[in-house]
Amino acid sequence: MRLKQQVMAKPVPKHIAIILDGNGRWAKRRNLPRHAGHKQGAINLQKITLEAHQLGIRFLSVYAFSTENWRRPKEEIDYLMNLPKIFEEEYKDNFKEYDIRVVFSGRRDRISQANLDLMQRVEEKTKDRKGLTLNVCLDYGSHDEITRAAKKVAEDVLNGQLTLASINEDVFASRLYTRDLPDVDLLIRTSGEVRLSNFLLWQVAYAEFYFTKVLWPSFSAKHLYKAIKHYQKRHRKFGGLKE
Ligand code: FPP
Repeated sequence: MRLKQQVMAKPVPKHIAIILDGNGRWAKRRNLPRHAGHKQGAINLQKITLEAHQLGIRFLSVYAFSTENWRRPKEEIDYLMNLPKIFEEEYKDNFKEYDIRVVFSGRRDRISQANLDLMQRVEEKTKDRKGLTLNVCLDYGSHDEITRAAKKVAEDVLNGQLTLASINEDVFASRLYTRDLPDVDLLIRTSGEVRLSNFLLWQVAYAEFYFTKVLWPSFSAKHLYKAIKHYQKRHRKFGGLKE
C-alpha cells in the first residue's frame, strides 16, 4: 500500500500544529535572500494545508509570526507582514474550492490596520466553511496568550460574571485565542530545532511531538504522511493506562 493510503487507513490526528522553521536556511543554501525562503514557505503552507485537508485533518495551526519575531530586521518583518495579503490573493480560490476556514490567533494591537481588515474579512468570509480550519498564529506567543486569559478571568470575577469557585480548566481555556479549537494531537517542528518556542504551550499538553531536519519550504506531502504515521504508532494514554 502506498504511504498515503496506509496513513488514511488509520485514525488521523484531529488537530496538527506546525512550527514552520528553516525558511532562512533554505534560502541561504540556495544563495537567495531570506525573503525568498519565506515566499517559498508560504507557497508550501498552501500545499500542506490542502494535503492535510485531503487526509481528513480537521484543524491545522501554524506558527507564522511570533511575539518575538518583531526583533528581526524591519525589512524582513515588512515582508512577513505582507504575506497575509499575498496569501489571500493567491489562495482564496483554492481555499474556497476545498471549503477551508481560516482563523487567526494572536495579539491584534500591533498589526497594521490593513492586515487587521484583511484578517477580519477572511475570518468572516470563511466562517461557515466545513472543511479544515487553518489557524494562522500571527503575533502569537503562549506566554502572552496565557497572561491575557488570566487577566480576562480576573476581570470577569471582578465584574461579577464569574465566581472564584467556578474557575476550572474549561473556563480558563475559553479565554485563550484558541477557544474554538480542540487540543493539539500532533506537533511538528521542521528544520532540526527541538524546542517549542512559546507555541501553544497549553494546547500541546498531551500532543505527540515530531521533529524533522527537513526545512519548512522543502517539507512535502510525503514528510507529512511520515509524521502522521509516526503519530499512529504511538500509544496515547492521556495519563491513564490505556486510551
Ligand atoms: C521561520 O523560518 C519562519 C517564519 C518566521 C515565518 C513563517 C511564515 C510563513 C512560512 C508564511 C506564513 C503565511 C502567512 C499567511 C502569514 P526562519 O526565518 O526562522 O528560518 P531560519 O531559522 O532558517 O532562519
